[in-house]
Amino acid sequence: MATIRLGDTAPNFSADSSIGEINFYDYLGDGWGILFSHPADFTPVCTTELGTAAKFKDEFDKRNVKMIALSVDGRASHNEWIKDINETQHTTVNFPIIADEDKKVSNLYDMIHPKADNNLTVRSVYIIAPDKSVKLIITYPASTGRNFHELLRVIDSLQLTAYHKVATPANWQHGEDVVVSPAIPTEEARSIFSKGVEEIKPYLRMTPDPSA
Ligand code: BEZ
Repeated sequence: MATIRLGDTAPNFSADSSIGEINFYDYLGDGWGILFSHPADFTPVCTTELGTAAKFKDEFDKRNVKMIALSVDGRASHNEWIKDINETQHTTVNFPIIADEDKKVSNLYDMIHPKADNNLTVRSVYIIAPDKSVKLIITYPASTGRNFHELLRVIDSLQLTAYHKVATPANWQHGEDVVVSPAIPTEEARSIFSKGVEEIKPYLRMTPDPSA
């Protein structure tokens, strides 16, 4: 079983899904991706999560992020469940759900934590950059549904910090001030960030969001 860490290349795979056979890399193309696992079909928390993800698709699209879910049931089961999700969550599931009956992908991505449950996946999230490197891993227990606002917030931070020499502070939201990267001396920072740099401490320099 693989242990995947930040910066590793996300393993490619081919698998059946609610929309047929998928090759992960082909599905992601040149954009960003978010892969998230669900313990099982026809479970209440997962039903709300998939409905929420479907409603957030426009936001993921704006950020060039493709969503793909996974649960350890088969394609026919997924498609029956999708009907329930659409009905109960008042939406249309608009991304594939991997049908990981043989747990090939779950094992590849270390999504089964035997001390939590021997057979079901926990709620793992992987965010993958266009170069296929893993940028974020979060693991939630089965009993806690994910916060998709937080996932979008992290994607905003990852995309900002990929292009600018900044980091984002606690609870940061797109458009708010950011932290100048510690590697840049303040005088140099003042020439890079035309919106200005406030030096609160020599190691704590703030500048307006350069992308806003
Ligand atoms: C759920 O998705 O509702 C769920 C799944 C497994 C354990 C607990 C809750």
